[in-house]
Amino acid sequence: MGSEGLFDDMGGRFTARLRHHQTLTHTSPGGGRGESISVRSRLGVLEARFDLEVLDRLHEPCFVAIERVLGGIHTRGGGDAGKAYLVYEVTGVSPTHYQMLAMNTALPTVIRKEYLNTIYEGWGVSDETWVDVHCAPTGYMVVEDGGRPVFTRSSLVPLAGAPAHLLSREATRSFLCVEGGVPIGTILGFDIELTVDIHSLVKYHAGVFGFTGTGKSNLTSLIVRQSLDAWGGDGTVVVFDVAGEYAVNLADMLATGGILYSPEELGDVDSLLESQTLPETLESKISAEQLRAWAGGLVDDGRVRPLQLGDEGGGGITLGFLLDTLRGYKDDRKTGAVQAAVLIERIRVIASEGGLELDVPVESLPAEARGELSEAISQTLGGLNDRSSLYTDLSAVLSVLEGGGGRAQGVDGGSGANTPESVALQAVSKDAPPLIIVYTPEPRDARVASSRFISRLLYLKKHGYRRRVGVVLDEAQEFIPYDTRRDDLTLQSSLAVESLLRQGRKYRAHCVLATQRVAHLNTNALQQLHSYFVSTMPRYYDRLVVAEAFSLNYEVLERTTELDTGQWLFVSFKSTKQRNVPVFIQTPNNEDKVAEWFRMVSS
Ligand SMILES: Nc1ncnc2c1ncn2[C@@H]1O[C@H](COP(=O)(O)OP(=O)(O)O)[C@@H](O)[C@H]1O
Ligand SMILES: [Mg+2]
Repeated sequence: MGSEGLFDDMGGRFTARLRHHQTLTHTSPGGGRGESISVRSRLGVLEARFDLEVLDRLHEPCFVAIERVLGGIHTRGGGDAGKAYLVYEVTGVSPTHYQMLAMNTALPTVIRKEYLNTIYEGWGVSDETWVDVHCAPTGYMVVEDGGRPVFTRSSLVPLAGAPAHLLSREATRSFLCVEGGVPIGTILGFDIELTVDIHSLVKYHAGVFGFTGTGKSNLTSLIVRQSLDAWGGDGTVVVFDVAGEYAVNLADMLATGGILYSPEELGDVDSLLESQTLPETLESKISAEQLRAWAGGLVDDGRVRPLQLGDEGGGGITLGFLLDTLRGYKDDRKTGAVQAAVLIERIRVIASEGGLELDVPVESLPAEARGELSEAISQTLGGLNDRSSLYTDLSAVLSVLEGGGGRAQGVDGGSGANTPESVALQAVSKDAPPLIIVYTPEPRDARVASSRFISRLLYLKKHGYRRRVGVVLDEAQEFIPYDTRRDDLTLQSSLAVESLLRQGRKYRAHCVLATQRVAHLNTNALQQLHSYFVSTMPRYYDRLVVAEAFSLNYEVLERTTELDTGQWLFVSFKSTKQRNVPVFIQTPNNEDKVAEWFRMVSS
């Protein structure tokens, strides 16, 4: 790629220079959580020559590269003549006429009219017009090395007056796309498929955020398909579905290799069909007969199975799970590692003296053992900072312990029925189905099912089961809300999901979650996500939560308000070529795959 290859000057139309940098602060009082958030974002402001084509092009997502002559220490090892370009992402444009700056409503109307006439006639003709281009630093610079662009991280700041160039299509591809990666969508503003490392996308946990109807479940279904594809048979995805969307969204995979579990009565075709939502857009593509045939097939093949939840107030928090959680703190030398180590020893003593079983829910333990455990945990809590995550985890366990009692039943009910624990075992077994959907329309059931499933999954993983498992939580605010309570079981499900997020990677257990209200989500959980997709979120507060949780430039995020269904701002620390460079993409429509499969099987 020659020097023309790195940049696209739009046939000589694009010329721009850096004017200055500015820092903007966005603050919201209160909002969903009753606490104020303030984020600061840095922006460069370029002055580009006024040109209509340039103006229109800059409305689309694009990157600019601002020249920077390097000081001696930076030039070693590459780059021609010590010149680099700092890469910025365009966040907004505003065409400006010199006279606009001198005009205000205090001027008499006749004069304002005069001004407006001059301004309108001046666009593109007068030298006094230009385009202000706002752009956010990506944290990268590019140098040319033997004609090829080489991108490296850089926190250098360009100097006022420095020329800026539009990054060409080829250079943008080389900046963003992973060689040999899996395509997940088309980069908006360019006709380029964004390729990513799909393994890392799921391995380091991903989030999908957007208002209802922006396409979260659709995109999540695509991610499920691509992960399973990439895993090539070594892995199972377990979807926790409260809205009844996934059986249809993954209809083909369910029919050919999936199982649907539910505590609802779904044993006949009618109740199965009634329980699931068919997107309106699919109604015209799949006939009622086709759907019935599909549902009938699922029932006949034994793919729809009852799930027994019982009334597990503890949500499956066992002594073994508690020990494993503590071990996580100890091994990772996190805050509280020492306290965790001490507590592990005390619990071991209590367990061996009382002959306690490790996989019985803690609230089902004998009263005496519960008393001793509570005391040990309370003492540990006394020595911890109440903002540490160990404190949060232990308080949750404590409140489950103290709320328990009176129930001595084992977790499996002993009957060979399907339980969250048996589903976990199935998911890690050698002949596991690739797809398991757990449909629980009652949020309480969803929390019981997910927390017991996850606790057992992590337990099994720690005892040698290697099979990869992806856990999908749609409507994640039902599982890991910002405010947790014991009586509605959100405390239990939060504890389990947080453990999955924190420890899962080590054990090949991964999580994808989707939610419409980020502000209502547990912040600890959010911070464990290394990749995320954002679509339109109408509430300012939600956007600020995302900007703050992920240190994402707010001006870039603000552009999500213009996105359409199926369009996303995608940011990843692990799965993209560069870390945390926000990219706007259009993802394929999962429903096309579903419709195509129905067409194929009925022809
Ligand atoms: N990538 C896409 N391309 C085209 N249409 C889409 C796309 N994603 C979603 N849609 C449309 O939007 C509708 C809502 O999508 P859905 O995934 O159910 O949204 P959410 O889960 O955010 O409420 C779908 O029925 C579909 O018609
Ligand atoms: Mg949805």
